[in-house]
Amino acid sequence: MVVYLDNAATTPIAPEVIEAMLPVLKDGFGNPSSTHSFGRKSKALIETSRRSIAKHLNCQPSEIIFTSGGTEADNMALRSSVNVLGVTHIITSRIEHHAVGHTAESIKKEGKVSVSYVNIDEKGHVDLSHLEELLKIDKKTLVSLMHANNEIATLLPMQKVSDLCRKYGAYFHSDTVQTMAHYAIDLQERDLDFLTGAAHKFHGPKGIGFIYVNKKTKIGSLIHGGAQERGFRGGTENVYGIVGMAKAMDLAYEDVVGHQQHVQELKSYMIDELKAYFDDIYFHGETDPKKSLYTVLNVCFPATDKSSMLLFTLDLKGVAVSGGSACSSGSSKGSHVLEAINADMTRPNARFSFSRYTTKEEIDYALEQVKAVFEKTLA
Ligand SMILES: Cc1ncc(COP(=O)(O)O)c(C=O)c1O
Repeated sequence: MVVYLDNAATTPIAPEVIEAMLPVLKDGFGNPSSTHSFGRKSKALIETSRRSIAKHLNCQPSEIIFTSGGTEADNMALRSSVNVLGVTHIITSRIEHHAVGHTAESIKKEGKVSVSYVNIDEKGHVDLSHLEELLKIDKKTLVSLMHANNEIATLLPMQKVSDLCRKYGAYFHSDTVQTMAHYAIDLQERDLDFLTGAAHKFHGPKGIGFIYVNKKTKIGSLIHGGAQERGFRGGTENVYGIVGMAKAMDLAYEDVVGHQQHVQELKSYMIDELKAYFDDIYFHGETDPKKSLYTVLNVCFPATDKSSMLLFTLDLKGVAVSGGSACSSGSSKGSHVLEAINADMTRPNARFSFSRYTTKEEIDYALEQVKAVFEKTLA
């Protein structure tokens, strides 16, 4: 049996998405900037997709700019805040994805901004009173805090952070790469400046994503070149990727609550089974369904003589999961997220991440293989 439980890294493309992309791959080769019929056809596909994505998020199509994925979109949010909006202070956290963390550090090295890190607790929750203290610093500020952490699942109280940002006149970017198309997002209810998404996290193709830029937030060109994306992001558009992403989002939002319930049930089942089997086990980050991303479960296993081979052994048995803590090869630095929450890095961990396609049989098989790794040493 082969079981894929690394959906936070990337998801398999939905068959319906492939179906939607195929005719574009085959025949839709016209350059969207060309004025002839081939080009117009491609342009129409892009604009239909943009309208559809905007409708799901309850924003205007002009607020959606297509990018090559989450990393580019996150870079754009930070860099345009500094280069165009005049931000001189970025408030972020130590558990952001490197697309945000490394970008903030890089802009800091260029001497353009100061970067403050908001305190987080041992589950990765942001200390809101510390955030408010940092917001009082008299500088033009961007707050960049992710909606859900991709390693430890902790969710940000978006509304509270948005309210604080507005109270102190700060811009607000939230990396929603893990939550886009996994939760309903209504941008008439959420006041943010930037959101970012990547299709491959919700059963769409790789190499395509987008940034939402609030129409009140006046940014300039993000990538210079042609006049594509209304001049914000030059470069010939990834038409089949855009079509695939819009289709993937349609499928996700057809029954987002149903998907949530299905996946949450599997996650709760796995938590219960692991707790029943192991005396000495806990979970990194948040597991409360109301405060955590339902697709991710980061398990901290007991350290035994076999446990360092956990991921390798699971892989051999056909179970794909990812790590996150100190890498056994010795060459990797380990997870900056686990380090930031002061996790016990001497114990092995595994991040299991699920999708709407995951089944209970697959979870049972994965559990069986996990138990087999520890069986002999626990006896
Ligand atoms: C939270 C988060 N932000 C950003 C990214 C980067 O997205 P992409 O792989 O599309 O560049 C990822 C991908 O792992 C992610 O999980």
